[in-house]
This record gives sequence, structure tokens and C-alpha cells, in this order.
Amino acid sequence: MKVDFDERIMRKHTDCVKYDMLQTLYGRDDLLPMWVADMDFRSPDFVMEALRQRCDHEVLGYSTVPESYVAAVRQWLHDHYAIDAAPETLHFIPGIVAGIAYALLALTAPGDAVLVPPPVYPPFLNLPVACGRRLVSSPLHIADGRFELDFDDFGRKVKGCKVFILSNPHNPAGTVWGTEVLSRIATICEREGVTVISDEIHADMTLPGHRHVSYSTVTDAARRHSITFMAPSKTFNIAGLGSSTCYVADSALRKRFFDWLDGLGVAGGNIFAFVGAEAAFRQGEPWRRQMVDYLFENVNSLRQFLTARLPRVKCVLPEASYLAWLDFSAYGLSHEELRDLFVNRARVALNDGTTFGGDAYRCCFRINIGCPKSMLLEALERMAKALEP
Ligand SMILES: Cc1ncc(COP(=O)(O)O)c(C=O)c1O
Repeated sequence: MKVDFDERIMRKHTDCVKYDMLQTLYGRDDLLPMWVADMDFRSPDFVMEALRQRCDHEVLGYSTVPESYVAAVRQWLHDHYAIDAAPETLHFIPGIVAGIAYALLALTAPGDAVLVPPPVYPPFLNLPVACGRRLVSSPLHIADGRFELDFDDFGRKVKGCKVFILSNPHNPAGTVWGTEVLSRIATICEREGVTVISDEIHADMTLPGHRHVSYSTVTDAARRHSITFMAPSKTFNIAGLGSSTCYVADSALRKRFFDWLDGLGVAGGNIFAFVGAEAAFRQGEPWRRQMVDYLFENVNSLRQFLTARLPRVKCVLPEASYLAWLDFSAYGLSHEELRDLFVNRARVALNDGTTFGGDAYRCCFRINIGCPKSMLLEALERMAKALEP
């Protein structure tokens, strides 16, 4: 059945971050929200139906991790990423941000160094600091219109680090890391005794022309030293359910991490997290494919609009997911002027580039295009009128 991704859904006053935090974060609530990474599509009907059916039982006592949920996760990993995950290699995690914090706390000591590649999803920068660890940055650079790792810098900075946090695919750069790059990371990290946390939350939204490679599958070394986080939350727009999975192939690493999780009781699931994720994984493939095609059309619409109307904006288009990185340096405006222009003249809410790695990104903003095409075009039109009046 064809899914209607064009529908504009009113989400205000549902306690949703994307709309109901606008006033607090941007100082006004009449903005088109093109920021936080959730989509404006209706969560799939088969997920809603599964949740409703579970509600019909009318007792919501403590739940075990359903075997059928674990089986659905395993099948998904097998079918999409050629991962044969034995049940004991998987652990439920209520959210990936929390999961990364747990991994840092479980596997490193206060003061240990954690390497991250900015511009990067802000919690990668904040979590090590919040956990009392030392943040080390190895910035990405743009080559041929896409963000890449600088291996010279990476090779130097990784020395002495205990953990490297990889966004695979990358948020906000949109890079789908290929086998060759991942293998190089694996070789270096194995040599330096670094554990790699591979956050693969955006993997299921890899766009046509690209293929997601799960980090743990590239080499034996990668398999040994990695912790992988995955989730149906972005793909099926069910982030509010708090449902993710951690995969650790190596038994020694797994014991350290999973024992810590179980000892502290921090990674228990809730009924709806299991039910929603299982429905998504079991029934979601046709929906996912349509959604990815829709995102790809939005990427093309964004490209066409920028070429025609805003040629001075430098854009890194996503190879996966629905986040694009826009650089407005050519306008010669300060960070504050750009921010003011988008909020008070264009009335669109974008993510501020500085939150992804500091002042180097003061003229950059991230736009979320996981929305009906009409909403994307409305936002772009407003930005064009404000930038090129
Ligand atoms: C790379 C990345 N990891 C994790 C998250 C959030 O994960 P969770 O909601 O499971 O904490 C996001 C959300 O934008 C993300 O982009």
C-alpha cells in the first residue's frame, strides 16, 4: 500500500520536542521546525496497531524481554547487514545517547580520553565531559563535496585514547562510511587498543546509491573491539518509545559492558518499546523502502532549490538519513546575524552549527528534511526570501 508522506500533521501541543520546545529554544513558536532529528511523518500504522493490541490486554505490569522481539532484531540485522547476532550478543538499551554514556562509564575511567569526529551529533561532544572523561577531537574535512576523516590527524589524536565514537552513517555530515575507511579505522584502533562505539541509528535510512556497512563486520579486529548501537527509532519515527539495541560480538568486552548494565539496572525495557520495535522490524520493510525513496526525492528537491535560488550556500547532501549541512559563509554575516535572520526573518528553526563542534562551524546550520515536501519547500522559500530579498 502506498504511504502518504505528503500529509502535514499538526504536532503542536503534543509535548513534542520539535514543536513544543520552539519558544524555549528559539524565543518564538511561529517557526517551521526543521531542526531536531525526528520526522514529520505519521508513525507506521502497523506499529500503532501493535501498540493498541497490547493495550487491549489492560495489564501493564513488569515485562521480560520478549523472545519474539529478540528474534525480530536478529532477523533485521541478518537481512540488512549480514550480522548473525546470537541472542546473548544483544542487549536492550532505552536510548542510544544513554547507551553511549553507559559504555563510557562501564569501559573507561575518569580522565580517560575519548575521540570524536566533529562536526558531530552534540551528545558525542557532551557525554564524555558529563562522564568526567577527556574529549579529544579529530575534525572531518570536506573533499569532493563530502565529509571525510583526516587520517593523519586521526592517527595522531587516537594515541592514548580509550574510545572512539563513530557516527555510522555520520550525523550531521551524512557520510556513509565505506568498507575501506572503516577497515582503516579498525586497523588503527586495534593497534592503539581503542574501543570503537559505532552508533548506527541512521543506517536503515541509507539512500539509493550507497550501502551501509556495519562497523563490526569489516574485519576481525573491528568485531573484537566494537560496540554497535542500532534502533528503529529514527527510521520508523518512533523515537518517543525509547527502544534501541546494543550488539557486542566479543565475549570479554560484552561481559564487561553487559554485566555493568545489568548490575546497575539501567537498561531495562518497557512494554511499548519492545512491542513497537518488534512490529517495525517484522512488518516495516515495505514502509521503510517507500520512506527512503521519499527522503531521496527531498534530497533532490533541496539540491535543485539551492542550485536555482541559493547558489551561494555550500551544501553537503546526505548519503543517508534526512539531515543536510548548510554553510552560509559566502554571505559574510556573523553567527548572530545568521541566527537572527533564520529565526526572526525566515522564521525557520535550524540546528546551529556551533553545537556540532564549536566556533569553526559558526556559519553552518543543519536542516532536517524528513518532512512533507511542501514543508521543505516552504522552509527553503522563506530562507531564500530572507537571504536574497
Ligand atoms: C547519531 C545519533 N545517535 C543517537 C541519537 C539519539 O538516539 P536516542 O534517541 O536513542 O538516544 C541521534 C538523534 O538524533 C543521532 O543522530
